[in-house]
Amino acid sequence: MGDRMHNKVVVITGGASGIGEGMVRRFSVEGAHVILADTNAAAGARIASDTNSRFFPLNVSSEDDWCALAALIRNDYGRLDVLLNNAGIVSEKSISEVDLETWNRLLSINLTGAMLGCRTAIELMREHPDGTGGSIVNTASTTSYLAIPDVAYTTSKAGLVGLTKSAAVYCATEGLNIRVNSIHPGATLTNILRSALESTPEIESMLKRMSPMGRMGTVDEVAAMALFLASDEASFCTGGQFPVEGGTISEHPRLL
Ligand SMILES: NC(=O)c1ccc[n+]([C@@H]2O[C@H](COP(=O)([O-])OP(=O)(O)OC[C@H]3O[C@@H](n4cnc5c(N)ncnc54)[C@H](O)[C@@H]3O)[C@@H](O)[C@H]2O)c1
Repeated sequence: MGDRMHNKVVVITGGASGIGEGMVRRFSVEGAHVILADTNAAAGARIASDTNSRFFPLNVSSEDDWCALAALIRNDYGRLDVLLNNAGIVSEKSISEVDLETWNRLLSINLTGAMLGCRTAIELMREHPDGTGGSIVNTASTTSYLAIPDVAYTTSKAGLVGLTKSAAVYCATEGLNIRVNSIHPGATLTNILRSALESTPEIESMLKRMSPMGRMGTVDEVAAMALFLASDEASFCTGGQFPVEGGTISEHPRLL
């Protein structure tokens, strides 16, 4: 493709599968030094070797893991340009079904994990040798706006909007030149969804109907939005929410 990330040091969490894998592939092709950070060592190492990127075992909810990653970045690269906080899980538990352990675990990954990532990245980006600066992109969801019964997931994705805005406003008013934005994918055709469609083909039309465009998004389309926000082309974008969902959140519920 191009060199829009030429020599940039980029951390991508949850890069061992789905949307994160798409981001790793796109950012690598664009010339970035990608650090793929994930709990899944087998898939992470395979994708890293495939894309000439580097795997780092990281549980996003562990403060110690983020400290270890920061130490590696300081030592081996001397700077961080971009963080994509993308790791996330679902629980499929409604408000009546959710137990405290499930709630705490999901929020610790989807929301606290992103907070720890932002805090670590801002610390590293402050020390950037070319002067303070960088870009952070948090993967939220259309569920930041439109609720689903999975209460912990919906809450985590709504919470990411607040985290993004607060971190963005802080960085901007401190004059740090660190931008923080969130992206909001709708139903996206990942490998997991592909195998679900093979076993339950009847959900395909339902997933497609979620968008007025009548189809699901692709990981490449989500990665392209992350790339724009990570790049210098988005230099006046911070604290924003960027949908990649074929118009899903613009549509009034249909009558038919
Ligand atoms: N797929 C969709 O339709 C869709 C829609 C909207 C938002 N999203 C969001 O996009 C992101 C990626 O989703 P996906 O569909 O690609 O999921 P996925 O399950 O394919 O990938 C998630 C990755 O995160 C990793 N991960 C899980 N827990 C982790 C932890 N504690 N620390 C580090 N890594 C961890 C997993 O190992 C996996 O590699 C998530 O934040 C998800 O909520 C997905």
